[in-house]
Amino acid sequence: MRKEIVNIGFLGFGTVGSGAVRILQENNVEISSRLSPRLKVKTICSPNIAKRDTSWVRDEVKYTTDPNVVLNDPEIDIVVEAIGGREPALSYINQAFEQNKNVVTANKLLLAQEGINLAKLAASKKLSLAIEASVAGGIPILNAIREGIAAEKIVSLYGILNGTTNFILTEMEKSGAAFDITLAQAQRLGYAEADPTLDIEGLDARDKLAILSMFCFGRYTSLEEIPTQGITQLTPIDFVYANQARCTIKLLCMAKIVDNDLLLSVAPTMVPHNSLLAKVNGSFNAIMITGASGGQTFYYGRGAGSGPTGIAVVSDIIRIARELTNGHTSLSSTFSFQNLEKSNVTELSQPYSFSVRFTVNNHLGVVAKLASILSENNINIHSISQDKLLTDKTNLSFVTMLEPTTPQQLHKALEEIKKLDFLIQTPLAMRIEENI
Ligand SMILES: NC(=O)c1ccc[n+]([C@@H]2O[C@H](COP(=O)([O-])OP(=O)(O)OC[C@H]3O[C@@H](n4cnc5c(N)ncnc54)[C@H](OP(=O)(O)O)[C@@H]3O)[C@@H](O)[C@H]2O)c1
Repeated sequence: MRKEIVNIGFLGFGTVGSGAVRILQENNVEISSRLSPRLKVKTICSPNIAKRDTSWVRDEVKYTTDPNVVLNDPEIDIVVEAIGGREPALSYINQAFEQNKNVVTANKLLLAQEGINLAKLAASKKLSLAIEASVAGGIPILNAIREGIAAEKIVSLYGILNGTTNFILTEMEKSGAAFDITLAQAQRLGYAEADPTLDIEGLDARDKLAILSMFCFGRYTSLEEIPTQGITQLTPIDFVYANQARCTIKLLCMAKIVDNDLLLSVAPTMVPHNSLLAKVNGSFNAIMITGASGGQTFYYGRGAGSGPTGIAVVSDIIRIARELTNGHTSLSSTFSFQNLEKSNVTELSQPYSFSVRFTVNNHLGVVAKLASILSENNINIHSISQDKLLTDKTNLSFVTMLEPTTPQQLHKALEEIKKLDFLIQTPLAMRIEENI
């Protein structure tokens, strides 16, 4: 049966929800020239809707503070969950499926935790769970992996997946300002939340990496297993030393299959200046995928914001509307693979070059002691740099570049080094990704 109108209900009318409604209205001509049924926003639910500016929204739209008005409305075909967080979003999505409604969501936290169960439920009911906006906002990366390179055997993925931290790192490098000052600037400009923990501790990037790993490899894992390090330890001097090594520092997400093992990591990483990823600045996101047959593809764009995520949500709505008009939904599996396999995360065990910043109360023999512990652990120092502007010997930061060593060897050496009394900060070790 051909549908003439596809009705949409919104749960949440914040950045993402209002962005999607605005795109549906403002790009109406473009959308209707690509799609035969009319997309109609029927109801918007938001607890404080009375306080929001809705003057620009079409008069036909109804408002409610009761989610059941959306979830129990038999006319609504698609529910957009734009609330965020675990509950009540999870219950509402489950309820939407129970009521035979398709769901569009940008909720990466929930998808990383519950995506498998939700996708199974949707598939069992022949409904769509569409999630493009959940990873890298305006970059259609999930669609690209699921459709554009569906035939590819993906070998690795590197990504800058969190705009807040990329903005902070870019500003620290540019201005030489400290982490706290740059974070406060990001909050003033609206790039960071009042509570920035999920971003600066790398947890938001980790959730997106977990979703991408499902898309790339058909494997899912428990989030706690993914080694995750945030950016709070970084100081402006780290960028000076990185620059001397012709690198910049990015909060880099990595997903790789090596000998059938799944390697995942989120960590501040030294990225060579000549890598495309080094050129991704400010709040932008990027993903670099290497496939066994097609080689490298690179995706770049805005990772967040009303417009970019609004486009992602509405593009998902258009896809579902096309499926609905053709009488069959869920043409592709939510996470691209028909079946997802549970996988443990294997620690990186290949040798990598590392940079390690030591901050010490400097006196005779400090470097010799560090070098001897490193060499007892079979680690060779490639070079040592100390910025000439640093003159306070009681709080001196210098960097050692290490010849390739395994993270395990380095970890063992650093555990010994941490016990030394001249050390005044935990050493900061960063992997150098030489070939991306
Ligand atoms: N912001 C981005 O650029 C972006 C990018 C990608 C993904 N995401 C994801 O998109 C989701 C939404 O983010 P956002 O930035 O749009 O959040 P937001 O601006 O804080 O908006 C959240 C909305 O949810 C509403 N809400 C809260 N509790 C609700 C409930 N129980 N029932 C119905 N509505 C409820 C809020 O209502 P009131 O205002 O009326 O209280 C508000 O309208 C999150 O999962 C986020 O991770 C966001």
